[in-house]
Amino acid sequence: MADALVAAAGLGKVYGTDIATRALEEVSFEIGAGEFVAIVGRSGSGKSTLLNLLGLLDTPSEGTLHLRGTESNSLDKRGRAKLRNELLGFVFQYHHLLPEFSVRENILMPYLISGGPVDEAIGARVDETLRVLGLDGLGAKNANDLSGGQKQRVAIGRALMNRPAIVLADEPTGNLDTENTEAVYSLFRTINEEWGTTFLIVTHDQDIASMTDRILELRDGKLVQDVRNAYAGAITR
Ligand SMILES: Nc1ncnc2c1ncn2[C@@H]1O[C@H](COP(=O)(O)OP(=O)(O)O)[C@@H](O)[C@H]1O
Ligand SMILES: [Mg+2]
Repeated sequence: MADALVAAAGLGKVYGTDIATRALEEVSFEIGAGEFVAIVGRSGSGKSTLLNLLGLLDTPSEGTLHLRGTESNSLDKRGRAKLRNELLGFVFQYHHLLPEFSVRENILMPYLISGGPVDEAIGARVDETLRVLGLDGLGAKNANDLSGGQKQRVAIGRALMNRPAIVLADEPTGNLDTENTEAVYSLFRTINEEWGTTFLIVTHDQDIASMTDRILELRDGKLVQDVRNAYAGAITR
């Protein structure tokens, strides 16, 4: 797949020097635009390590990573930050919202950091984001005054503000109840279908994994399964 959005080849990661821990070994796969993928595996199997490498938050010890054709090892710190801002959105287990700021300001944060002017078009983009999130009318509310499920949706809005091609989510529903978990996944699916955004979602939850289109399974840092889930669409749509 020459035009893969993500191409990992022989990715490896060793932490530490005195006491070295191998967290990832010889991981290779390609992901095309618009895919909806789960990354599963036991605790300690290397899921977060892999996501951090894909998100340019850390550098591999071995192997290469191409993101939309750019080899990540060829970039300096600045180049990595630029590609990260342009291409990637992150959702974590904890929402990490700024509690003293409004919903609107929290969603705008990555855009403000990237230095753009807040003009009419950007205001409209925030409104569209709030609509997709089901948070219409809550833009002025203080982030602290939201429920747990609403906070995670704002965090998703923040990840989407720069309209990334890829969303990387690390156990995004680890802190949520069943109802909010389902809401988050149906939101991810809607964005995947409406905007063509690619999703890579680390999850413990088999039910969730079974609703994705493809499952990558890690065991002891190795990729042991890469399967397509032909029925996923029929279940979720
Ligand atoms: N910063 C780090 N320093 C040293 N070892 C680490 C670090 N991060 C993760 N590890 C180790 O790497 C392995 C994989 O961890 P991780 O990627 O967090 O797994 P998962 O997300 O699947 O639970 C584990 O053995 C973990 O202890
Ligand atoms: Mg983890």
